[in-house]
Amino acid sequence: MTPGRPGRDGGGTPAAGAPLAFLPTPCHPAPRLGAALGLADLWVKRDDQTGLALGGNKARKLVRLVADASAAGADTLVTGGGPQSNHARTTAAAAVRFGMRCELALAADPGTEPVGNLLLDHLLGAVVHPLGPLDYDGLEAAIVSLGERVRAEGRRAYVIPVGGASPVGVGAYVDAARELVGQLGGAPDWVVCADGSGGTHAGLLAGLAGTPTRVLGVDVGTRNDLDRAVARLASATGDGTPRSDPAPGDAVLVDHDHYGAGYGAPTPESAEAIILAARTEGLVLDPVYTAKALAALRTWVGDGRIEPGARVVFWHTGGAPALFAPRYRDELMARAYASRSL
Ligand SMILES: Cc1ncc(COP(=O)(O)O)c(C=O)c1O
Repeated sequence: MTPGRPGRDGGGTPAAGAPLAFLPTPCHPAPRLGAALGLADLWVKRDDQTGLALGGNKARKLVRLVADASAAGADTLVTGGGPQSNHARTTAAAAVRFGMRCELALAADPGTEPVGNLLLDHLLGAVVHPLGPLDYDGLEAAIVSLGERVRAEGRRAYVIPVGGASPVGVGAYVDAARELVGQLGGAPDWVVCADGSGGTHAGLLAGLAGTPTRVLGVDVGTRNDLDRAVARLASATGDGTPRSDPAPGDAVLVDHDHYGAGYGAPTPESAEAIILAARTEGLVLDPVYTAKALAALRTWVGDGRIEPGARVVFWHTGGAPALFAPRYRDELMARAYASRSL
């Protein structure tokens, strides 16, 4: 098989085979989940359906990142994340599609059980470097030094930061915001998404700038500088048009109250959110990102910060493979039995 190359338009379409991301993703009403939350007009944007080795928000970013890597003559994609990183898994899949090698710096112990995303990293042929526990900055530094090592070995590395949160990657969510407005026939009142690196939130904010839409990012406990990072990335990807009169949606709005004990830590509210989405809409959330985002949405509607009649879009960013990590599986099974109906 001849490996595909990114399309000349930068659209990331291999010369042969499927596009890297299946776009546009569906956007549909979720009336049963809406009723359970107290919302009359709830929609779900299905970026869990982007394709690319079980999909997720990183596929959109990778369309642009791989085109950039290819234009730079790279033969190896270098990135990293936690042991259940969706970004690492989808980058490994993108590398396969474009005939590149993938090296991953993971904040995981060498003995971490290869389940969920970590299993997929191996199946997809990535070279996995388990580096033990690292914080966000430590992980960014480890990715950069892995890139240097790959270059010292004579290969042409393209280094992608945690979450694909470079201006190139984030630009994909400027387009995604416009895709959404086209699907709805206008800007919604609210968009709610999970914040890891902040890149998705930043792109949506830039794409919706000048509209009344308020974008609520839900901190999942990754980086201490999240609010500043969202603002910085949003201005790096915006169209640069000066606005003397900012719209209500232009402010960076982050919920910091739902990540529990830290990144990836299960919380009772996120477990309930998983069960609620599953039992109202047959919608599968993930325990690290989207469950916390839905738990936050529930709180914001419950205390009136989001009005019951508002048009709200819950942005499903994917991540379901992590459900199968034992850390979540056992807790979720216990709750699934305990709450036969919610
Ligand atoms: C499933 C899922 N949702 C949301 C996010 C957060 O996206 P971002 O890093 O762009 O903030 C990630 C990032 O890793 C993710 O994997």
